Amino acid sequence: MDIDLSVDIAGVQLANPLMTASGTCGYADEYADFVDLTTLGAFVTKSITLEPRQGNDYERVVETRAGMLNAIGLANVGLDVFLDQKVPLLEKLALPVFVNVAGTTIDDYVAVAAALDDVPVVRGIELNISCPNVKAGGIQFGTDGAQAAEITARIKEVCGKNILIVKLSPNVTDISSIAAAVVDAGADALSMINTLAGMAIDTETRRPVLANVTGGLSGPAIRPVAVHMVHSVYRKVASPAGVPIIAMGGIQYANDALEFLLAGATGLAVGTALFVDPACLTGIRDGIVEYLQRHGHGAITEIIGALEI
Ligand SMILES: Cc1cc2nc3c(=O)[nH]c(=O)nc-3n(C[C@H](O)[C@H](O)[C@H](O)COP(=O)(O)O)c2cc1C
Repeated sequence: MDIDLSVDIAGVQLANPLMTASGTCGYADEYADFVDLTTLGAFVTKSITLEPRQGNDYERVVETRAGMLNAIGLANVGLDVFLDQKVPLLEKLALPVFVNVAGTTIDDYVAVAAALDDVPVVRGIELNISCPNVKAGGIQFGTDGAQAAEITARIKEVCGKNILIVKLSPNVTDISSIAAAVVDAGADALSMINTLAGMAIDTETRRPVLANVTGGLSGPAIRPVAVHMVHSVYRKVASPAGVPIIAMGGIQYANDALEFLLAGATGLAVGTALFVDPACLTGIRDGIVEYLQRHGHGAITEIIGALEI
């Protein structure tokens, strides 16, 4: 039996739900030799800001027992270089591209999102209001419902053809209330979760390992937290509103992806696992197909939100 893996993210048709998690696969060209990008349903870029950013000082990454802490600080080439040099490479992928957008002021975000609406290969904006590693802006927008709604509404105004995906922070007391605020303000899709705030200490020097002191935890350690949050947001907000969720947080194997699908995710992004096993996308895709066949399903959409409680 042929299995249909296609999904619809707010009107953007993907051949399968797999995507890169922002910041873990650059702008695609850096990883083309390591990651089989043809296994993807969509490509999600590193965060883009209006001006280029150097990011934080080193050390910026530290491995933890079941994941990694990063404090890259949104290092990126900036909008102009992205448009001139990276977009032509993304066009060669023949995949829908979602561009992650970050900034320190709402006007910055709006300028980047507006410019990206003129780029045909770009099909959506992923609004990063949840980065824990920058001192100004970043996470503040994502931890306050009113501010999250305001920035969502402002960006939505400049999204003509592009869908608006809002990326949620797990560093909040009630993620569903933030999700509800941004959906009410016009978000077409939600992505979740960004990294969890964390830190590591070098006990010999008695100093933080990361130059930024704190960082964002990702990888297998955060998966149960992410599954729980996707489950809650799906039941309380996304399912009633008909808004799809792109889930991320520790996906490395097919069973990880299946947990998120059953919890209510329509899209699946893989980040930290690409550093461990750049070939893992193929295994995830093949494992999902095997599961669907074994359970008598013809389409992946049949198991989205199929959790039984
Ligand atoms: C090295 C690194 C860089 C990241 N950079 C970004 C970024 O630029 N923008 C963003 O929205 N998320 C960024 N993230 C967060 C990921 O997109 C993702 O939300 C998070 O890592 C959880 O997924 P994972 O456990 O599969 O990595 C980054 C994560 C890592 C590990």
